[in-house]
Amino acid sequence: MADHHINSKAIENYILSNPFKGKPENLYNAMNYIMQLGGKRMRPQLMLLSYLAVKNEVNNSAFNIALALETFHNFSLVHDDIMDNAPIRRGKKTVHEEWDIPTAILVGDNLLIKCYELIMETDFENKIPLMKEFTKMASLVCDGQQLDMNMPFKEFVTEDDYLKMIELKTAVLPACALKMGAMSAGANEVECQLFYDFGLNLGMAFQLQDDYLDAFGLESQIGKQVGGDILENKKTVLFIHALNHLSDSLKEELLNWYDNKSNSEEKIQKVKELFEQADSRNYLLNLKASYEAKALEYLRSITMNQTVKTEFDNLFGFLKSRAN
Ligand code: IPE
Ligand code: IPE
Ligand code: MG
Ligand code: MG
Ligand code: MG
Repeated sequence: MADHHINSKAIENYILSNPFKGKPENLYNAMNYIMQLGGKRMRPQLMLLSYLAVKNEVNNSAFNIALALETFHNFSLVHDDIMDNAPIRRGKKTVHEEWDIPTAILVGDNLLIKCYELIMETDFENKIPLMKEFTKMASLVCDGQQLDMNMPFKEFVTEDDYLKMIELKTAVLPACALKMGAMSAGANEVECQLFYDFGLNLGMAFQLQDDYLDAFGLESQIGKQVGGDILENKKTVLFIHALNHLSDSLKEELLNWYDNKSNSEEKIQKVKELFEQADSRNYLLNLKASYEAKALEYLRSITMNQTVKTEFDNLFGFLKSRAN
């Protein structure tokens, strides 16, 4: 990622200089493999920025919370890639492909546990409330992931069902990251809540962009298999909108493709054409923009110094138009 703001290099360095240590080697190698593969590091950036919005200097404890949030994110990706049958992550083989499924399960488990170690090692007085906030979020993400897995088998999925699901699987994490940053820096409850609501809306837009890129992005940019959601019959906003706006015969065609177990390039192409014909791509982009507007409203309602404000604006601008 280009250097979008002062924190991103520091975060990358912190991650690289704090690998997980232990045995057996294959487990720890796989944990460090995923952690060191890069990625946008959005969640730790959000956490450190909200911390800096409240207090003007970060310390090691703040970095440990940031690292815990990125570690949680990586745990969720490793397990998510097993669930989604994903071959590629961040341009490299997924953990379960490079090693195997049992290793990937344990990599995820252990990464999740390491998050707690990291939070416990901090010297924040409100460690327990921080831990509670983190735990609440972690459980919601699991709820969301199960809903995500259930949806391909549900006959009727509404847009509201879908939005609730992505709020849980994706949006609560950036929301929690922003709130934990503010909490650990000593912000009051009102301010913490504003950060949370900013993050929740940002997270919704983030997942909608992820869904957009899954269908219309480039593998070389997203570092993931393009069309993976289509192959897995994910009922994203693209699918739900298309189903509600296509003619009966084209609707039938779409449903047939989603019934079809074939994992072909043809399925991806045909389904994408149907999304285009229903104008679902634009619908998704407009919906995303509405969440971005809400996120921005919350962000603007929070008082912070100009430097941090600019950093938030840069990150926000990058996320809005990201191609990766
Ligand atoms: C992917 O997250 C999973 C989603 C919640 C959409 P990111 O797009 O932040 O993945 P990395 O960390 O940059 O690789
Ligand atoms: C992932 O959603 C959400 C979590 C990992 C909790 P996706 O399944 O859309 O994420 P990608 O596209 O694989 O990164
Ligand atoms: Mg996935
Ligand atoms: Mg998934
Ligand atoms: Mg996705």
